Amino acid sequence: MAKSVTVRAPCSTANLGPGFDVFGLALDAFYDEVTVTKKGKGITIVSSDDIPLEPEQNTAGLVAQAMKKKEKLTGGIEIKIQKNVPPGFGMGSSAASAAACAIGINKLYNLKLNQNQLVSYAGIGEKASAGSIHYDNVAASVVGGFVIVNSNPLSVVRIEAPNDLILCVAVPEVKVPKKKTKVSRSVIPKTVKLSDSITNLANAANIIAGFINKDSSLIGKSVEDVIIEPARKHMIPGFNNVKNNALRAGAFGVTISGAGPSVIAFASKKQNLTKIGASMKIGFKSAKKNSKIIICKPSKGPKIVKIVK
Ligand code: HSE
Repeated sequence: MAKSVTVRAPCSTANLGPGFDVFGLALDAFYDEVTVTKKGKGITIVSSDDIPLEPEQNTAGLVAQAMKKKEKLTGGIEIKIQKNVPPGFGMGSSAASAAACAIGINKLYNLKLNQNQLVSYAGIGEKASAGSIHYDNVAASVVGGFVIVNSNPLSVVRIEAPNDLILCVAVPEVKVPKKKTKVSRSVIPKTVKLSDSITNLANAANIIAGFINKDSSLIGKSVEDVIIEPARKHMIPGFNNVKNNALRAGAFGVTISGAGPSVIAFASKKQNLTKIGASMKIGFKSAKKNSKIIICKPSKGPKIVKIVK
């Protein structure tokens, strides 16, 4: 039996435009590192990052609480969190910690949980940041690659991403509200026009076809979203310029990364990625905002990096 397990789980982008709460893609940009150790009593969280340390307020803490209760785990668990995914920018930061924690505890207690069970536990952590459970980011962080999630009943389908798919993520330097995902979910329309839902459905179907056929151009051209993006884009300063600049620079498609405010452009190795990134930076500059550009590929998924017996 292990005493301690360390897991690195990737960040992710959710929605990919029309796949709101259904699509996720793990990104090889940042990884949260979580070490779970059998120690003390109850659940304790240790971190030098600016995150809540009370288990009820912390994504990984909520996951551990739920697993401890449901799996009837005895003894205490210490959760050491090293946050590398920037929190609050639409890159699945809370999900990465939640996923790493679920995978770590599964190994620590030799629970042999299956993929859906792990995603289900990790999803509980999302409650801390989003106010509601949604599985798109956690599923990507738990299984890697491109995921299609059905939340009721929970099922996750994973498809390997094309080798040439590249993402340019522009992360603006803006102040994000504490419960950002909750805030950005509050602006989403309660009802949608049938014609808009048909457009999004067609695009979503093409995204899946793109991943199956390893066609990065089809994926990128299909991230067009006529429902969520129009409702949320006012929350992202300079969004239209960022998007149009990236398209003019050769990106296949551009959309909001998760609940924003980062903007993600889809391209392939053949595109001029530096030019796309620079054009997105200029877009944010037009709204007087600096931004960081991250050029990355999809991630294959999480890794158990250390086990102490
Ligand atoms: N699907 C979620 C949303 C992802 O867009 O609100 C947020 O992490």
